[in-house]
Amino acid sequence: MARRVLIAGLVAALTAVAAACTPDTSGITTGKLMNETLSSGRSYLLFVPSSYSTRSSPAPLILSYHGGNRNASQQAALDLLTSTFFNVEYVVAYPQGINDRWQGVPGVTTNDTAFTASILSALSSKLCLDSSRIFATGKSDGAGFVGDVLACDAVLSRRVAAVAPVSGAFYAPNNTDRGAGCDPYTVVNACNTNSRVDIPVIEFHGGNDTTIPYGGGVRRRACLPYVPHWVQIWAGRDGLGTANSSYNLTADATVYQFGAGAEGGVVTHVFDGGSVGHSWPATIWNDDNEHNGDGPASFNASSVIVEFFQTWSSRGRRAF
Ligand SMILES: *[C@@H]1O[C@H](CO)[C@@H](O)[C@H](O)[C@H]1NC(C)=O
Ligand SMILES: *[C@@H]1O[C@H](CO)[C@@H](O)[C@H](O)[C@H]1NC(C)=O
Ligand SMILES: *[C@@H]1O[C@H](CO)[C@@H](O)[C@H](O)[C@H]1NC(C)=O
Ligand SMILES: *[C@@H]1O[C@H](CO)[C@@H](O)[C@H](O)[C@H]1NC(C)=O
Ligand SMILES: *[C@@H]1O[C@H](CO)[C@@H](O)[C@H](O)[C@H]1NC(C)=O
Ligand SMILES: *[C@@H]1O[C@H](CO)[C@@H](O)[C@H](O)[C@H]1NC(C)=O
Ligand SMILES: *[C@@H]1O[C@H](CO)[C@@H](O)[C@H](O)[C@H]1NC(C)=O
Ligand SMILES: *[C@@H]1O[C@H](CO)[C@@H](O)[C@H](O)[C@H]1NC(C)=O
Repeated sequence: MARRVLIAGLVAALTAVAAACTPDTSGITTGKLMNETLSSGRSYLLFVPSSYSTRSSPAPLILSYHGGNRNASQQAALDLLTSTFFNVEYVVAYPQGINDRWQGVPGVTTNDTAFTASILSALSSKLCLDSSRIFATGKSDGAGFVGDVLACDAVLSRRVAAVAPVSGAFYAPNNTDRGAGCDPYTVVNACNTNSRVDIPVIEFHGGNDTTIPYGGGVRRRACLPYVPHWVQIWAGRDGLGTANSSYNLTADATVYQFGAGAEGGVVTHVFDGGSVGHSWPATIWNDDNEHNGDGPASFNASSVIVEFFQTWSSRGRRAF
């Protein structure tokens, strides 16, 4: 009870501070993607919804990371978070990876954590953003970066309110205690010991994913986890125990929630046991399901993601 009152007080205080900025649209075109380049030369696409100009409170932000060998504009075409069907409220930034890849992929040496921090800094001086409602999503390599690098970083894990990796490539070093081989059921990609331990996570994976298989295994000489094992590690980090509750989202997709009782599922896993492969789940055709040949899914991942982000923002969970 005392904790609840304290949290409510902190939320009220933060809201009061956050409400201090007023949206200013000079130099911004709402409703379309803008190419923004940082002084480092790195760039991202920025989407400011048309509702931004009439907001009376700071806007929430979603960072969305493209998959390997894909780019920022392709990610925008995939998640459709620029469409009013999914998003009327969130500012969305689509960072562009160097050589279309991300930190966390074996052999990649770029510092995308620092790049992300630079984007947040540029955006917070340009826009009126709610610093307690910054979220991150991504596909494949981009999802691996979100779920294993950003969410595990001592600083950035406290700047993001929740993360939503889709078909995540969660590369980990081999299990050195098992003759350096890859055991998908026990492999762990260690988080920074000072990272946040109450971060809400929602992971989506298709059982028919042949690029980043649900069952894990060796890829790029690194070890991919059995996806439920990866989810269970997060539930453990977040102190939610090992038991989950589940329900069927559709006839094909099941939702597993850890910590569901009090908060509505802090760590959530959406498993599609139908046709979904290495694709961003959508009930319409997209680049992924066309290219992978699995076709439309039984649900729209973007709807579930925005709803998950709304849950945390509406509860006023603090990002830091
Ligand atoms: C932004 O434009 C520059 C110059 O054309 C280009 O190199 C870069 O890839 C673009 N960034 C994005 C995120 O599309
Ligand atoms: C992103 O990839 C698409 C498809 O290959 C390409 O048409 C587009 O020019 C790329 N955008 C950038 C900024 O490189
Ligand atoms: C990335 O840069 C940050 C500071 O900008 C630094 O703390 C961190 O160690 C760097 N990470 C890597 C993997 O180089
Ligand atoms: C990891 O173990 C697998 C066998 O399970 C092996 O194929 C792979 O080369 C190992 N990776 C490294 C970096 O040693
Ligand atoms: C959820 O719990 C059930 C029953 O213990 C288990 O079979 C299943 O693997 C769990 N799912 C996840 C994603 O951990
Ligand atoms: C959920 O879906 C699975 C697999 O399609 C099915 O076996 C199970 O009966 C369904 N459960 C409920 C509660 O509908
Ligand atoms: C899974 O993919 C394979 C190969 O693409 C396909 O033959 C199979 O029908 C798919 N399974 C389902 C359940 O769609
Ligand atoms: C999925 O999203 C598309 C828009 O991208 C929409 O037309 C379709 O109705 C949505 N499907 C469901 C089941 O909501």
